[in-house]
Amino acid sequence: MWPYPKIVAHRGAGSLAPENTLAAMRYARKHGFRGVEFDVMLAADGVPILMHDPQFGRTVAGTGSVNQHAAAQLQKMDAGAWFGPHFAGEPVPGFEEIAHFCRASDIWMNVEIKPAPGCEAATGEAVARHAGRIFAAELQTAPTAQSAARLPLLSSFSIEALLAAKAAAPTMPRALLVDALPADWQARCGQVGAGALHLNHKALTAEAALAVKQAGLGLFCYTVNDPVRARLLLSWGVDGFCTDRLDLIGPDFADAR
Ligand code: G3P
Ligand code: MG
Repeated sequence: MWPYPKIVAHRGAGSLAPENTLAAMRYARKHGFRGVEFDVMLAADGVPILMHDPQFGRTVAGTGSVNQHAAAQLQKMDAGAWFGPHFAGEPVPGFEEIAHFCRASDIWMNVEIKPAPGCEAATGEAVARHAGRIFAAELQTAPTAQSAARLPLLSSFSIEALLAAKAAAPTMPRALLVDALPADWQARCGQVGAGALHLNHKALTAEAALAVKQAGLGLFCYTVNDPVRARLLLSWGVDGFCTDRLDLIGPDFADAR
């Protein structure tokens, strides 16, 4: 139900390196993390790149929309300087580059499909298609527990994006992201073929955790930065969570008592 790492570095390395960059993935790996979550959006030319915000101004300086710039332009932009001078010049990475890096480094990926408004289906389709190509070997061989655990998990708040991902790469695992648990969570997961539900931990109760687990779904929470809360969530049966606080919640946190 959850063959993946339990503790996952949010946006690459949480609050310790610039989010959604190769530097962040390297940081996570260096600190022993075996799973990362990151956000993927489409450039104007349909190429998936790592980005959280649809508008420039926070992690990339300037004004304007990410999806009005081609990938080649975006990949020349500085996504590290905002975080600190040490990371100045760190570029906006392409999804392919990061996926190849993680696959080669044996880092599992929770790829959050993060469409700019109006680009839901196109983003879901492109992310799934690229992921399917990069992980063709894992998808083609008869699935073993080991090969299944290597596949990225594509998650999104957008049902439309997940349906497009499903159409493009039906056997690539998917998860439905929700901020609060909707009454029809089971039907929504069924609709998009999600094997896991990803939920804001603030909206979770022990009862809801039990119901999700009893439905046979994986249960993952975002973004858990307090070790006491993290311990409680695990005691409720939460399979995994992502964190910004790699310094407080290490990769082996779930195994330590
Ligand atoms: O994938 C879980 C989490 O990353 C969702 O929120 O805004 O940090 O992408 P956000
Ligand atoms: Mg995210």
